Formats: sequence, structure tokens, C-alpha cells
Amino acid sequence: MTLERSPLPSDRIVNPAPAPDDAEELGPSAGPSLRPSSMDEYIGQRKVVENLKLFITAARQRGDALDHVLLAGPPGLGKTTLAHIVAREMGTQLHCLTGPNVERKGDLAAVLTNLQPGDVLFIDEIHRLPKALEEVLYGAMEDFKLDLIIGQGPAARTLQLDLPRFTLVGATTRTGLLTNPLRDRFGVQLRLDFYPPEELERVVSRSAGILGVPIGADGASEIARRSRGTPRIANRLLKRVRDFSQVKAGRGGDASITRDVSRAALALFEVDERGLDPMDRRILLAVAEKFDGGPVGVDNLSSALGEDRETLEEVYEPFLIQEGLLQRTPRGRVVTRAALQHLGLPDDRLPLIDLS
Ligand code: ADE
Repeated sequence: MTLERSPLPSDRIVNPAPAPDDAEELGPSAGPSLRPSSMDEYIGQRKVVENLKLFITAARQRGDALDHVLLAGPPGLGKTTLAHIVAREMGTQLHCLTGPNVERKGDLAAVLTNLQPGDVLFIDEIHRLPKALEEVLYGAMEDFKLDLIIGQGPAARTLQLDLPRFTLVGATTRTGLLTNPLRDRFGVQLRLDFYPPEELERVVSRSAGILGVPIGADGASEIARRSRGTPRIANRLLKRVRDFSQVKAGRGGDASITRDVSRAALALFEVDERGLDPMDRRILLAVAEKFDGGPVGVDNLSSALGEDRETLEEVYEPFLIQEGLLQRTPRGRVVTRAALQHLGLPDDRLPLIDLS
């Protein structure tokens, strides 16, 4: 099994992309895994879990592979974790690929021809799979056949290989970028949403238990509230608050993480009351001040901030939008009254034009 790194930048403490110290990405040497290993251990995403459990039970009863599953939603919510759990609960092997890292048809063909019946092939960021490879997947998904071209020019021949019945689990942060023929071949399509603070608090408490870090309910709730609805961020903040608590508050001992410790640590890491970091505030400030509240096109905004457009769209905006701080309109991004209040700016910066 190969686990590949997401191309999203990982220099922010609240970045939902995997960071180099995420145990889940590095294996046991980086510390115990915080990833739940069964559906019953998995916190939140109730509907998604309920559906998957049902489909897994039904497939197992029939002795068949699970139908192909598309998991959509922002980074860090547990799509990879679910793929691991699906394979485990089906009693089969998981094989992992990342869309943009698979360059040649031969690489995909090698993975497909190595699958055993019922195995799970997980393709992360499937919307970034090159088009030619996507076409290889069509036949593999639908008829469990792989068409190969052997040789070149007039001597070229096609060869059709039978594949075992397998399950493709595709993960995407951008359903809109998936082509229709690919999307239509997934019999199960599920969307993960940001976690409410109560669920994230349970994630933080569970992880603290695994890490052996004493934490109070108040300390956990403070971390949960500032984790942008994202378990990967909650776990990362927990580890950094633990460092703070150990060094500053506990003076090297095992001081428990209280609300005050969490607050002091998160203030030091510049994660504010709503979980925004300096880059989020820069984005809102740029729209509010440089562009008079908006609307501003994403390309303009990305140049003004010196940040890549895709990162803005995939990493920063989904949370700012769901928090009601930023709006995407047909004419561009605009700040909301809540954003101006949060930044301590007067609300005369709200766009004067009619955006309807
Ligand atoms: N760790 C990360 N995500 C989790 C989840 N959804 N449930 C339990 N533990 C987690």
C-alpha cells in the first residue's frame, strides 16, 4: 500500500492538508495513530456512516465487492480514514493512489491488475486524475475490463484483460470538477460536511486519550471550537497545545490541558476565537480594504495575496463561506457584515451594489 502526500501546502497550523507530523501520514514512528479503525469508532458524519455500514453489510451478505464509492467534501474531514475503514470492514486490502501523481496509463494498469477480488482502490483527489487515465477507469469500473494497447504503429494490438470485481473509492474536494461519465460510474455518492463543535470535542477527547494527554472538557471544547469543523486540524491543534502545556504550563510535567492553557496556546499560535489564522484574516482584510468589500474575482484576489488560486478555493474559502464571513457571488467574492465585525471594521464597507 502506498500513501502519498497531498500537494496542498502544509505550513499553517490550521491547514487541513496533512502535515509532516501527522501520524496518519507517516506511520507508527510518528506516534500512535489517531485514525479510527472501524465505523463504530468513527465520530460524526452520521448519515454517511449509516449508509456505508448498510452497503457494506449488504455486499458482504451477497459475497460481492462493494459498489464504487465517491466521497466528496473539504480536506481533513476523514475521506481517507473512511476508505481504510471500508477495506477493513470488507475484509480486503486497500491500495492508495493520488490523482495528480499517477502520470502513466501503465502505472494505473499495474495497480489494477494487482487487485484481488473485493479489494479497495482508493484514489485521492480523483478530480485531478489526467483525462486519459480517467478513460482507463471507465471500463475498469463498469465491466471490470482493462483495455491495453501493445506495441506501436501498424503493429499495435489491443488486449483486453479481465479484472477482479473491486471497489473504487474516489475522494474529491471538488465534485464540480469531476466529469459526468466518471461521476455516473459511482453507485454510492456521499458528501462529508464540516463537523459541529460537539462532535469535534469528542474527537479531541478521544485523541487526547490515545496520546495519553490529560484534558478537561473545557480545554477540549476550546480546541474543538477553533478547529474549523475539521478533525485533522483539531488533532493537530491538540498536539501543539500539548507541547505548550508541557513546556510552558506544566514546566516539563504532565499538566492537564485546561481552557486557560488552550486559550493561551492558541493565542500564541495566532488561531483566533473563530479558528481563523493570519492568512484567513488577510483574505478578509484584502476583500474589505483593497477591494472595498468586493465583489472581487478570485484571480485578482489571488494576485493581491500572492496565494495560489486553487489553494484559495480549496483550502481557505470553504470554511470562510460556511462561517458566513465570505460569499461567492457570480461577480466575485464579497465580505459579509459578520466578517467586518470580526475584523473590527465599520460595516460601511459592505458592497453597495445589488448582488442578487
Ligand atoms: N479522528 C479523526 N477523525 C475522526 C473521526 N471522525 N472520528 C474519530 N476519530 C477521528
